[in-house]
Amino acid sequence: MSITLAIMASGKGSNCRAVLEAIKSGRLDARAAVILSNKPDAGVLEVAREYGVPSFAKSHKDFPDREAFDSEFARVIREAGADTVVLAGYMRILTPGFVQAYSGRMVNIHPALLPSFSGPKGASDALAYGVRLSGCTVHFVDEIADHGPVIIQAAVPVSSEEDETALMPRIHAMEHIILPQALQWLSEGRLRIKDRKVSLLCKKKQNFLPATGATGINELGPYLICPAPDLL
Ligand code: GRF
Repeated sequence: MSITLAIMASGKGSNCRAVLEAIKSGRLDARAAVILSNKPDAGVLEVAREYGVPSFAKSHKDFPDREAFDSEFARVIREAGADTVVLAGYMRILTPGFVQAYSGRMVNIHPALLPSFSGPKGASDALAYGVRLSGCTVHFVDEIADHGPVIIQAAVPVSSEEDETALMPRIHAMEHIILPQALQWLSEGRLRIKDRKVSLLCKKKQNFLPATGATGINELGPYLICPAPDLL
């Protein structure tokens, strides 16, 4: 099984790049069919050009309402033949109709350990609150922003002197691991959702594993990922 992706993003596109790199290196069994942005000057469009992926950018300001904007994006996704939607820094609330069309086939990356610090400034809100552990979450998308079933999370420690400039690269480094990983599990058909809990089908035994974690240290410091990535 493989998946065909529509990647939606509003920013510089480092997560989109991580997904495209994972595909290129064979770690992610997927094809990127189209990259969409609501910001016609977003850096992610340059990433699309670099990797030769078709892109589509339209400002939401040119549409009368959210429904009209989302149905235009849905049309582009359909025509590109994508079956899975990746929100890789897409900074817009989606309409219920769009969300329902991709139920169980749309994932989002959020720069905090949900359900804490949902919203557009997850990482800076966590820092301002004074947390000692921060991180990121990949989750299925439902009708409530930053709320759907959690697939994988990574945690990084926060030191008291740290500001956003120091913390963000460590969160991004984890995002770039867990987003392609979640997509690979989806591609392999290994994710099941029951009572909003996501379990991971074990490849060998064909049963569902509890969430086991992996700890490590990279050049930016220690981290913890649950469930353990099996791409690395
Ligand atoms: C990431 O931190 C992601 O968690 C959030 O938006 C940011 C996008 O960064 N939703 P990039 O454009 O992928 O570099």
